[in-house]
Amino acid sequence: MLREHTCGELTIENVGTETTICGWVQKSRDLGGMTFIDVRDHYGIIQIVFNMDIDVDLCKEARKLGREFVIKVSGKVVERSNKNPDMATGDIEIITKSLEVLSQSKTPPFLIEDETDGGEELRMQYRYLDLRRGPLQRNMKLRHRVLKVTRDLLDAMDFLEIETPYLIKSTPEGARDFVVPSRMNQGQFYALPQSPQTFKQLFMVGGFDKYFQIVRCFRDEDLRADRQPEFTQIDCEMSFVEQEDVLVTFESFMKSLFKNILDVDLPDFQRIGYDEAMSIYGSDKPDIRFEMKIVDLTKVAQGKGFNVFDNSEIVVAINAKGCAGYSRKQLDALTDFVRTPQIGAKGMVYVKYNDDGTVKSSVDKFYSKEDLKQWAEECGAKAGDLLLLLSGPRQSTLTAMGELRLKIGDELGLRESGTFAPVWVLDFPLLEKDEETNQWHAMHHPFTSPKKEDVELMESDPGKVRANAYDLVINGIELGGGSIRIHERELQDQMFKLLGFTKEEAQEQFGFLLNAFEYGAPPHGGIAFGFDRLVALLGGSESIREYIAFPKNNAGRDVMLDAPSAISVEQRKELGL
Ligand code: AMO
Repeated sequence: MLREHTCGELTIENVGTETTICGWVQKSRDLGGMTFIDVRDHYGIIQIVFNMDIDVDLCKEARKLGREFVIKVSGKVVERSNKNPDMATGDIEIITKSLEVLSQSKTPPFLIEDETDGGEELRMQYRYLDLRRGPLQRNMKLRHRVLKVTRDLLDAMDFLEIETPYLIKSTPEGARDFVVPSRMNQGQFYALPQSPQTFKQLFMVGGFDKYFQIVRCFRDEDLRADRQPEFTQIDCEMSFVEQEDVLVTFESFMKSLFKNILDVDLPDFQRIGYDEAMSIYGSDKPDIRFEMKIVDLTKVAQGKGFNVFDNSEIVVAINAKGCAGYSRKQLDALTDFVRTPQIGAKGMVYVKYNDDGTVKSSVDKFYSKEDLKQWAEECGAKAGDLLLLLSGPRQSTLTAMGELRLKIGDELGLRESGTFAPVWVLDFPLLEKDEETNQWHAMHHPFTSPKKEDVELMESDPGKVRANAYDLVINGIELGGGSIRIHERELQDQMFKLLGFTKEEAQEQFGFLLNAFEYGAPPHGGIAFGFDRLVALLGGSESIREYIAFPKNNAGRDVMLDAPSAISVEQRKELGL
């Protein structure tokens, strides 16, 4: 070993010890007679001291050290006169006796400190430097720990980890596939898995009973803070189970995981139906850390001569408690927010129930004091509260209100990190219609089973069929989703037909699965959790990029590698492209 101690482990107990440490120069302060340098490694930071009175040459060497030089230092651990309680090693320092530069460094393009001055793109370009920073070091350690605990927990629950191939045929999970050209089969392509969905079902047909895999998935879709083109899932499947078994199993798994990683006791998971989630929270991934439920005021708000409301399918409100004092400027900002193309509302109506008992609204012309009092009653608004109303087509208005609810929740500090509010969202529709093509799509995926009592509606009213599908949502983040699968060939055939596949197309794409169902498929179901999202949630952030060692930017590029990139003419020729 080049070193005897790491930069994080020396304490007052080690005073008097002669030691050698290695690390990066984090910061250097030259006070004339003395030079102080903070040396950093994976384990921590320690101060080393050079004293002009002891060794002039060594001091001169020290002054030449730049940020991020890699050095090896030997010396004696002494107690500090000026202790730093913010540093784990803040009680001591090393009086340097010898110094060796192991590697020089150019001036880094941004500060390698917990708080950096580098923008995200620059930090991604120099990711190896970004990774040196405390937050990224801690995030990768957290990721490792969650990987390990997940494996241990699932192993203890008798789940078997089995790998599945990455070069496969397309699996429809709702996104586009990334494809890989085949040299040996020119003109043909593999697809990278959007998830191991069909394989894990075949493991059940193959008799494995309980499977899991911590597995990379690939989806060519629009990216956001919580979406990467390649991401990791904890993918699970079980045989001979019903929905309730899966929910109970994975609620217990999640509780153990949170206990183990954060020492947090998660509350029992709430349960909510998809329809209810949409109408109360305006979202199928509700943040239930706070109430502020959406109230339907359509009946009481229509018929009073206000055309905007009268011509709307729905009028909904939320009660922003204690916000009657919002200024004109604050209300305008909220109106601008709901009008952004992402939210898509036309405008916003407000009613202030002032502390002094007066009521002021943006629609005073149309509504009497009594009308506004009735709205307050419906919404539980008291003096000091502010009602915010939106109107329009049902679905989009509820969704817009859901977004406004989250924004107000943020403004009022109701979405604290460190509080966890888990909820199972159940009873999703089996299908959703693409309004442009008029074609049915599977809301989860085509292998999800319809509820038994709804099967007969598949022919007559497909939009009404509910699925045996469930999502786990924590703090408004969709952490996982799964379903009980179809395990009968006839039902799977029927599903493909509904989705617009001809018999031949279904056989061509999914023949392997349909055929497998003819050889004794057990009833089965499962779930997959977004591993990156889980780690980010445990780490207290919504951006998964900070928890992935080498992430891609929002345009799907790896800016460090500069990928994707063109390939050589020879390579293309070889691949027949
Ligand atoms: P689903 O498509 O819901 O289900 O994905 C499961 C979970 O994976 C995470 N996730 C993502 N995380 C980061 N970046 C992405 N682009 C991304 N896409 C999805 C989410 C999501 O809840 N095969 C089914 C599971 C099953 O039915 O068992 C599936 O993949 O947290």
